[in-house]
Amino acid sequence: MMTETLHIPSAFFSPTLITNALIFSTILGILAYARRPSQLPCPPGPKGYWLLGLAKVPLIKPWLTYVEWGKKYGDVIHFTRFGRHYVVINSLEAANEILERQAQFTSDRPTHTKLDQIADYKRILSTVSYGDRWRASRKIFHQNFRAKASIEYRPIEVKQIHKFLDGISSSKMSLKDQVSTLSQIIMFDSLYGLEISTNKDDVSRRARDIVDLNDLLFIPGWEAFKSIPFIDLLPSWLPGGQYRMAHEIIGETFRVAAEGPWQQTLSAMESDENHSSLIAKLLSGNPQDKSSEEIELIKNMAMQAVGAASDTTMSAICTFFLAMSLYPNVQLKAQQELDTVLGHGQTPTFDDRSALPYVEAVYREVMRWHPAVPLGLPHGTTKDIYYKGYIIPQGTVISANIWAMTHDKSKFDKPNEFIPERHLNEKYDINSILAYGFGRRICVGRYMADDTTWLAIASILATKNISSLPNKNVEDYFSDGGFCSTKSLDCKVTSRL
Ligand code: HEM
Repeated sequence: MMTETLHIPSAFFSPTLITNALIFSTILGILAYARRPSQLPCPPGPKGYWLLGLAKVPLIKPWLTYVEWGKKYGDVIHFTRFGRHYVVINSLEAANEILERQAQFTSDRPTHTKLDQIADYKRILSTVSYGDRWRASRKIFHQNFRAKASIEYRPIEVKQIHKFLDGISSSKMSLKDQVSTLSQIIMFDSLYGLEISTNKDDVSRRARDIVDLNDLLFIPGWEAFKSIPFIDLLPSWLPGGQYRMAHEIIGETFRVAAEGPWQQTLSAMESDENHSSLIAKLLSGNPQDKSSEEIELIKNMAMQAVGAASDTTMSAICTFFLAMSLYPNVQLKAQQELDTVLGHGQTPTFDDRSALPYVEAVYREVMRWHPAVPLGLPHGTTKDIYYKGYIIPQGTVISANIWAMTHDKSKFDKPNEFIPERHLNEKYDINSILAYGFGRRICVGRYMADDTTWLAIASILATKNISSLPNKNVEDYFSDGGFCSTKSLDCKVTSRL
């Protein structure tokens, strides 16, 4: 078990670098303007300060501000900061055109600076640049998390969700911590064959640290400071020097999060030849035959899978609990369907899924109503691209405002309300769930996420009653950053068996 502690400096999240950067940003602003490679304009958007191109960007629930900006500027908004170009896409049509049809040139991640190297973002699939390393990493993820491969994890999902249901009333942990533990334990058990008892365990905390450290970094424009030349060289006592330290911490967190559970699994495999886990499977045969690159790919995949699931799956299940507290009639209707189809008290299995259309619609509405990553993860352009007479220059950071798309009034009547009925006549297609992102960088773990979230929702509805909460100022229940989740869960859960 690891014992080191990593302290995250509070100054890391303070956006007060401007004084230090005025000169550099002026130069970068001029360069960005001069670099515009054609006569075509960039899409409309706020201009920011003269020459600096320093648009003031929202940091608190920014997806809501971008919906407002969209009314003025249109569905593709452009701005610059410290010489970097940013685009936020507010409509599904534009996302399909830019991130799907032009995916060949819009599948990069904006992680090319010295600070990104210090954070070692190349070892993580979700942050590695588009290229051979991404392809190799995506391939191993795809092999182990595609639809057919994800079926392998179902017995663990069933086992852990049943354990969660059994302990839910007696646990000393808060409901949110229990959900967080559930979403992590499914990944630790599947990948490493490890059981964690709480989300406060050391290995488990590492996975959460990764998400917390990146919560702001994925907000469009916030991380523009990374483009300031020599920022990586500033000593920690100068304003701006904390950024290098923070990126060193991110890199170290990745290393510790990858190494700790990996070593525990190797020890477990030595003492138990029947040890079962994805890692044991991938290392079966003769581990010595594996190259060091292959070992690194497996190790990094396992670490990232835990990190990627720990916040997103948790967020989806927490959103479900909240929605049921706010919409008791939906809860009742879903329970009536379960009782009619399966019989009162029966917990559903994956085989029952197609016979439960209303429960399915509840799952889809959870994913629409409050997507876990409302602005997705940023894409980057590797070439100038064009959209409706505008240019989006090479090196632009593009964010898909998933929130805006799932709250588009022309497609979803009363979008802020939780109405599962809107999905009842839809043909099931996982790729139409916008919460999983777009193009070649679409969530590679979506089949496992889909299984886990659906089974958790269906099993909770079958066996528990969730008490009501006041249905006003709903957004106050949710956090503000790039990975959005309920702040806490104050509903009571009781047995209905
Ligand atoms: C409800 C649960 C989940 C949600 C809502 C979700 C959402 C997302 C989103 C929005 C992206 C970015 C897509 C884009 O760039 O356009 C993403 C990427 C990713 N997700 Fe998930 N995710 C979930 C669960 C998982 C799980 C369980 C895993 C691991 C098995 C996973 C692994 C990844 C990875 C590795 C990437 C990066 C892919 C790449 O850059 O090529 N996710 N996810």
